[in-house]
Amino acid sequence: MTERVAVAPGSFDPVTLGHLDVIIRAAQLFDRVVVAVGVNAGKQALLPLETRIALIEDGVKLLPAVEVASVPGLLADFCREIGASVIVKGLRGGHDLGQEEPMALVNKRLTGIETVFLSAAPAWGHVSSSLVKDVARHGGDVGAYVTPAVADALAAAFGRRPGVQ
Ligand code: PNS
Repeated sequence: MTERVAVAPGSFDPVTLGHLDVIIRAAQLFDRVVVAVGVNAGKQALLPLETRIALIEDGVKLLPAVEVASVPGLLADFCREIGASVIVKGLRGGHDLGQEEPMALVNKRLTGIETVFLSAAPAWGHVSSSLVKDVARHGGDVGAYVTPAVADALAAAFGRRPGVQ
């Protein structure tokens, strides 16, 4: 039987527990999940690409069917190159849908790839990378929303010692 490969794209600046929940759920639905770290032209990243990738790799290290890659160009091209049949994205409600639906339609038009949306678990519906960065920027505790490695990376990015708020 043909392997079903899903791509879970995002800018992951940084990866949150909400992202990881969607990735874990995607891994239960597909044979292989490739987490694709792409460039969002509308966002200036805080963390370097290599750091964002390393933090996702740390978060998925217990999931053998999940790998992480960077996408320097078009996501739809990347999906075709690796033989992915579907893009998986989490949705935290109507605001996300408004942003995601046009991208899903463009990706479908470009290469025919379908996007499926997984509703964010209620526990993570309010969590975003932007919110987490804002809390960390001001020295707040982000331990409820990200892995310890991400919390340390944010502390370092904002010039604080890891584990110290
Ligand atoms: O986490 P984000 O910021 O919502 O992720 C957006 C991302 C990176 C998935 C999107 O900007 C993307 O796919 N970028 C790669 C370039 C591309 O394909 N652009 C056209 C998207 S329709």
